[in-house]
Amino acid sequence: MAITKLKDLATLVSLCKRRGYIFQSSEVYGGLNSCWDYGPLGASFKYNVKMAWWKAMTRREDVVGLDAAILMHPKVWKASGHVDGFSDPLVDCRSCKNRFREDHAIQIKGQIACPKCQSIDITPPRNFNLMFKTYMGPIEDESSVVYLRPETAQGIFVNFENVASSMRKKIPFGVAQIGKSFRNEITPGNFTFRTREFEQMEMQYFVKPGTDMEWFEKWKSLRWNFYQHLGIEESKLRFKEHGPTELAHYARAAFDVQYEFPFGWQELEGIHNRSDFDLSQHAKFSGKKIEYFDEQSKEKFIPYVIETAVGCDRLALALLCDSYREETLESTEGSAVAEGESSAQEQTQRVVLGLLPELAPRKVAILPLSKKEPLIELSHRLFQQTSENWDVEYDESGSIGKRYRRQDEIGTPFCLTVDFQSLEDQKVTFRHRDTMKQDRVSLDQVNSYLSDKLKKFIS
Ligand code: GAP
Repeated sequence: MAITKLKDLATLVSLCKRRGYIFQSSEVYGGLNSCWDYGPLGASFKYNVKMAWWKAMTRREDVVGLDAAILMHPKVWKASGHVDGFSDPLVDCRSCKNRFREDHAIQIKGQIACPKCQSIDITPPRNFNLMFKTYMGPIEDESSVVYLRPETAQGIFVNFENVASSMRKKIPFGVAQIGKSFRNEITPGNFTFRTREFEQMEMQYFVKPGTDMEWFEKWKSLRWNFYQHLGIEESKLRFKEHGPTELAHYARAAFDVQYEFPFGWQELEGIHNRSDFDLSQHAKFSGKKIEYFDEQSKEKFIPYVIETAVGCDRLALALLCDSYREETLESTEGSAVAEGESSAQEQTQRVVLGLLPELAPRKVAILPLSKKEPLIELSHRLFQQTSENWDVEYDESGSIGKRYRRQDEIGTPFCLTVDFQSLEDQKVTFRHRDTMKQDRVSLDQVNSYLSDKLKKFIS
């Protein structure tokens, strides 16, 4: 069997639209640039990605969850440095009118040039703040300005004392949060990779100063293990350290986890040692003391923070890219392919999303071989029974070969086929997505068969 991995993003964008994963936002109006809607399968898949992260983070004694508001007091963004410093240098190409970030320019003979047309006729940079502004209440003036948060992290910092005291947490401990963030990016693009509205999954881990680098290393290794658990190909992942000139204003040390997308190596997650920058800033700007009293050593200090921050949409995109494969089956393999996969064209080519079952939007598809009443009735009964435990799809239209191909393309690990023989022998056929092998299973064993097969993948 020959296997080809994803070569270009356009192939994935097309699959996502065709199969109900991701649609262009406001498509009937021509779309809204860089905004995307998750369709029925995409929403389910993204939820599973979030749950995998949430469980990895909060099923620990030392990490609790939070869900802070998107709109926050405007002083938060003064304190965090976003009002004054969260900007990109924007330049325009006078030749082709391309607008881009100065750091995305190319170099030609020591001069910066337009990445689109190579012209060196570029305007001087202007700083452009990336925060979206809006007004709270009916009066639109400077006093009512609020921002859509550009990161979820600040909701955790300003709740540090609320969480520590209500949850009786002793340092070291962390707070995890999933939520929307907004950035008025100059150059969004590459599908859901860089958008203006996106979801982040961030965790701030509060530690005693002096132990910060030890925890930084620990979280680096935990995060690497997480990506291994999700089944991402190891050769497509790497760490990239930020050099001294690349460090964000708040960071003492930073590593990115990068993934090799079809458009190159790019940041998936940032792991930062933020020192006591944020808590100190909020203490300064709010006038409130934010300190931690260590009962053992009787010391008072401002905790240091180790942050892990990944975009949910970006991780979902990496997982889709990584799990996509095209298979060309040899004729000998074709004959081993199970009944129902027999049309010549369909037999030799298939597209599979080899998602970890934990992440797949559907775990099982119930497929009656015919629309005749007794089969349909049994199939609906099996749908009711299995969907008590799993996300299940029911599909009775089209040839069985086409229905298998659809399930392969959306990443469903198992198809359950109900045929006329099922009425006689009270058995159904399970077909495995990856091997296409089939098992005949008694009706009363369906749930235990599925539990057994899926349990090692689903935490
Ligand atoms: N609190 C730290 C922070 O926000 P960041 O590196 O700016 O750090 C963290 O963002 C992660 O959020 C990134 O690694 C990326 O996965 C995701 N992210 C950032 N900007 C994004 C955008 N415009 N579109 C999609 N995801 C984005």
